[in-house]
Amino acid sequence: MIIKDAKFLISNENPEKCPPQNKPEYAFTGRSNVGKSTLINMLCNRKNLAKTSSTPGKTRLINHFLINNSWYLVDLPGYGYARVSKKEKGKFEKLTPGYINNRKNLMCIFVLIDVRLKPQKSDLTYMEELGEAEVPFAMIFTKSDKPGKNKTVQNVEIYKKEMLKKWEELPPMFISSSITKEGREEILEFIDNINKKW
Ligand code: GTP
Ligand code: MG
Repeated sequence: MIIKDAKFLISNENPEKCPPQNKPEYAFTGRSNVGKSTLINMLCNRKNLAKTSSTPGKTRLINHFLINNSWYLVDLPGYGYARVSKKEKGKFEKLTPGYINNRKNLMCIFVLIDVRLKPQKSDLTYMEELGEAEVPFAMIFTKSDKPGKNKTVQNVEIYKKEMLKKWEELPPMFISSSITKEGREEILEFIDNINKKW
């Protein structure tokens, strides 16, 4: 799929104020600093469409982007960010279930995982909750440029083994890097195929 046009639409705290549910939508979630906003920019070939930062906790609202006038891409706040106050943290983490459970046009959530890390409880729990809520999801292992190819493949294998302890079937999985653009074509093609069924 070619991205001809990508524009920021709206930031929301209230899921009910998100854009009308008349187009297929894809959301990006994962722990703070995993690279959600950076991946969105990489997919759209734009430097500053979604705001990024080396400090975790940058994205604090639900951000809608309109792509090719035909589908939405959504940047969500990260979870598991320890340095905000408990009250604040609860607020951001509660934002996303309110969003996830109320968007009928949400076709798939991409759960981003830093490929350098061993499976983390917060991610595993998050995916189990998505499974229980029957929300389709796919995994994206980010920052593959950092550990290099062998270690990336090795860590993905470790993750698959861990997932198979709980899941009968593995979700679709992608490997990405904002530096090498690995994964870009595959992720866009995956989205394109789902869009065709809308
Ligand atoms: P929050 O909004 O705080 O939840 O974070 P986020 O998940 O949106 O992360 P963000 O995109 O802001 O990126 C966090 C940091 O990781 C930034 O310093 C990025 O430059 C860096 N980063 C993201 N993706 C990659 C990647 O593929 N490779 C490398 N080397 N760095 C990356
Ligand atoms: Mg962000």
